[in-house]
Amino acid sequence: MQNMSTKERMNIVIVGHVDHGKSTIIGRLMADTDSLPKGKIDAVREKCRKNSKPFEYAFLLDALKDEQDQGITIDSARCFFTTEKRDYIIIDAPGHIEFLKNMVTGAARAETALLVIDAHEGIKENSKRHGYMLSMLGVKTVAVLVNKMDLVEYDENIFNSITREYKAFLRNIDIEVETFIPVSGFYGDNIAARSSKTDWYTGRNLLEYLDSLELKSKDSGLDFRMPVQGVYKFTKDGDNRRIVAGTVASGTLKNGDEVIFHPSGKKSKVNKIEGFNTELNSTAYEGQATGFTLQEQIYIKRGQLVSKVGEKYPESSNMLQANIFWLGSKPLKEGNIYTIKAGSERVEGEIEKIIKVIDASELNLTSQSEIKRHEVGEVIIKLTEEIAFDLCSCLLDTSRFVVVDEYEIVGGGIITNDASIESEINKTENSYENNNLNVARGVNRSQRALRLSQSPTLILLVRNEFEEADEIGSAIEEYLFEVGRQAYYVNGSLQMKFRELIKLSGHLLNTGSMVIADSNKLEVLDLKQLGIPQDDIITIGISDQDDYVYDLKYSNKTRDINQIIHDLIELLSQKRRMFHVRQVG
Ligand code: GTP
Ligand code: MG
Repeated sequence: MQNMSTKERMNIVIVGHVDHGKSTIIGRLMADTDSLPKGKIDAVREKCRKNSKPFEYAFLLDALKDEQDQGITIDSARCFFTTEKRDYIIIDAPGHIEFLKNMVTGAARAETALLVIDAHEGIKENSKRHGYMLSMLGVKTVAVLVNKMDLVEYDENIFNSITREYKAFLRNIDIEVETFIPVSGFYGDNIAARSSKTDWYTGRNLLEYLDSLELKSKDSGLDFRMPVQGVYKFTKDGDNRRIVAGTVASGTLKNGDEVIFHPSGKKSKVNKIEGFNTELNSTAYEGQATGFTLQEQIYIKRGQLVSKVGEKYPESSNMLQANIFWLGSKPLKEGNIYTIKAGSERVEGEIEKIIKVIDASELNLTSQSEIKRHEVGEVIIKLTEEIAFDLCSCLLDTSRFVVVDEYEIVGGGIITNDASIESEINKTENSYENNNLNVARGVNRSQRALRLSQSPTLILLVRNEFEEADEIGSAIEEYLFEVGRQAYYVNGSLQMKFRELIKLSGHLLNTGSMVIADSNKLEVLDLKQLGIPQDDIITIGISDQDDYVYDLKYSNKTRDINQIIHDLIELLSQKRRMFHVRQVG
């Protein structure tokens, strides 16, 4: 049954550590839903018997692949199965590269993911890496299949302990796990039918679970985005209309809508949507390949991002802050130049800075100057040209990109921030509007920030006694001054009330300065009411018994001021409170 009917479709991606049973589960799903071509399973069984090999469900996939090689053009990483409710396309992700390529480029959109963990072998690096990648790619509903339950005698305790451990991991990466299902792909337990061997499990079997999921509606209510794939000319009979073509990444578009192209900023009105599929004309929906003509002819290039007037515009910048999942055999390093493919745009980009590196399997922070294969890092990329994109916190689809090195995909990522100086300054623009502090009139905050290459920040030293605060505060002040920043330490011995101190600090911040001040634990809890935005404050706690969450925390016995300064500088640059010195104008 390789032909797809007109039923609703859902895309699933299946991931997991090598040999944990992905192919077996897919084979099972196809067999148990009668989705295989007639006689296929018997033929494969027979072939195994002849070669005295044990039958494997995974062989079914190979058998289908052979068939596809003979001319049926179906991407070999995809399999199909069907239930009464809908047709499923399941994408096996044999290696990271395949998976990422498909997902990042949007060629394969997965509504949901199955993550397979071998009950006998337990959680492995890829079980976590893949989980992390799913979260980066925005696949937020995941069912974990604890497979090969037969090998652990369907032991409830083993299932529970894997569940517990993996849940703890997922909590860190913002994935909702709908379900953990104990299965055996090999014997078909809890795949298409409830297994009698796991009577302790009262949840749904895999098919019931999948059928219970609802597809996202066609109109998600998100802002309209379409990367321009190309502009085509009608040639017949002197017709000089041009069609702007692409695939809708989010939102909807109708005839007559006013559109704007980014980053060029050119505007026009949609004359007519020319769907390639004639039934769907006057409206284009998410995921649909479409094209439209414009009322006024404007020059448009491939790579631009279309949005609608009246909705939120995408960002445009040549400096990106991004999370990258690295796949290249050569590590990513600062100063390296790669091709960045975002939407339909391709530009060259230099890795300006590695902010941090995370081992994706353990989610440990490491302080490295390169990102190795299978690690995730946070970086700043400087592009040769401005491009349009969205931040992953707003619209995930248009925040994704792939990193290409000499025609090969070596990484994928999501844009977390516009890292241009201008954007940093805009963010600080209206900081102190609603407090009682006197906002300077003539010269504004942005001008100061640009001049001083820094976003004024209050660095608050919090300790119970002030004895050594002086020393630390002065050391920070000196250090910042030495490296060319404007900084001022409001000395604790001034004996000011906290409220006064904050007021004074606010004035100093208005001058564009970095301000270092002392406080104690009780006072720091009042901070919120004092009108300095949270973003503009860094707290350094030096205390042993204090559960307030400081940005940086040290033991009372800390004498290593250099360490504190080192960490602070790193944090300041990570939060982009200090900009690289750059000529302006
Ligand atoms: P890769 O594609 O190489 O990453 O592996 P995979 O995850 O697709 O695993 P595959 O389905 O090929 O299964 C690997 C081995 O585990 C095969 O020998 C399967 O027969 C076996 N296996 C898979 N599921 C089960 C199961 O539920 N029980 C038992 N006993 N063996 C299983
Ligand atoms: Mg496989």
